[in-house]
Amino acid sequence: MSYELNEVLLSEGVIKDRVRELGRQISRDYAGKELIVIGVLKGAVIFLSDLVRCIDNSVKVKIDFLAVSSYGASTKTSGIVRIVKDIDSDIKGCEVLIVEDIMDTGLTLSYLYRLMMERQPRGLRICVLLDKPDRHQAEVNIDYCGFTIPDEFVVGYGLDYAGLWRNLPSIYIVRPSM
Ligand code: PRP
Ligand code: MN
Ligand code: MG
Repeated sequence: MSYELNEVLLSEGVIKDRVRELGRQISRDYAGKELIVIGVLKGAVIFLSDLVRCIDNSVKVKIDFLAVSSYGASTKTSGIVRIVKDIDSDIKGCEVLIVEDIMDTGLTLSYLYRLMMERQPRGLRICVLLDKPDRHQAEVNIDYCGFTIPDEFVVGYGLDYAGLWRNLPSIYIVRPSM
């Protein structure tokens, strides 16, 4: 089966405005503190790079990355979370913010939340651009959420189908082509 881009779900402008708001909120919450922002490769890379530029200089921001994979070349999750690359930082005693493009089943974020908590950060919060509540299987508290979206497969702004379409500045719905 092949898939094709359908309608725009969230335009570039709508995303930009919301990311700016999230950055302001994070700036207020962490003013005067140091914050390690952890991006989950590869999906979060575009969101993270825009988000950190909307956090003002009252916060001492550091950036790190980890990579997990569960989807492979399918639109369905395998349910198995695999760490492909860990962060370089020692987060013990630090304020940490995990940044993700999307919470779908929640398996990735619930796994990462538990893994990072074991390392005893001072504070650990989660920021997602998109949340798809209809698909949740594991619950985890989201501290900053860009948009709640319906149960559609979406791509663009970091989100992929089989590795493609991450570069699109807007978020699109993908459906099987007839
Ligand atoms: C996607 C997405 C999230 C995760 C969400 O990543 O970027 O990380 O799945 O799904 P879940 O809530 O059901 O766990 P993917 O495994 O496709 O890797 P990628 O970020 O490299 O595209
Ligand atoms: Mn991902
Ligand atoms: Mg993916």
